[in-house]
Amino acid sequence: MRGGMFIKRLVREAEKSMKLAITPYSDFKVGASIATKREKIYTGCNIENPSLMLSICAEKVALLKALSDGERSFKAIAIVSNKQDYCYPCGSCRQILWEFARDIDVYLAGSAGVKKYSMREILPYAFNKVSF
Ligand code: THU
Repeated sequence: MRGGMFIKRLVREAEKSMKLAITPYSDFKVGASIATKREKIYTGCNIENPSLMLSICAEKVALLKALSDGERSFKAIAIVSNKQDYCYPCGSCRQILWEFARDIDVYLAGSAGVKKYSMREILPYAFNKVSF
């Protein structure tokens, strides 16, 4: 699919997933959609828990759905939120995305259109696996 069209679709899928977020505590809804290199899309939304620290981010849900389906190579992720223009992924999601999706494109949707970043840009000096 042509680049621009594909990004639109990726953002639309993230928006659809955002509506499914389970957020009784914050009402801060996030939707994420991650695309494999072959352009298969996996979506995720945030899921909160009354033990608040156990809440799970949309980005992790999307990535882990894909990984648990056997996917290993990714090209882009789109992220949207109902409360924040340009919802940047949290530090923990950045590290996990870096580990499994490396330097993918990151598309953030907001009222002034879609902004594009690379993982390397939003996670400089990333921690990398050494031998344990
Ligand atoms: N959240 C995400 O899902 N992704 C982010 O990148 C930032 C935060 C969720 C966690 C929590 O359910 C809500 O947003 C408010 O922090």
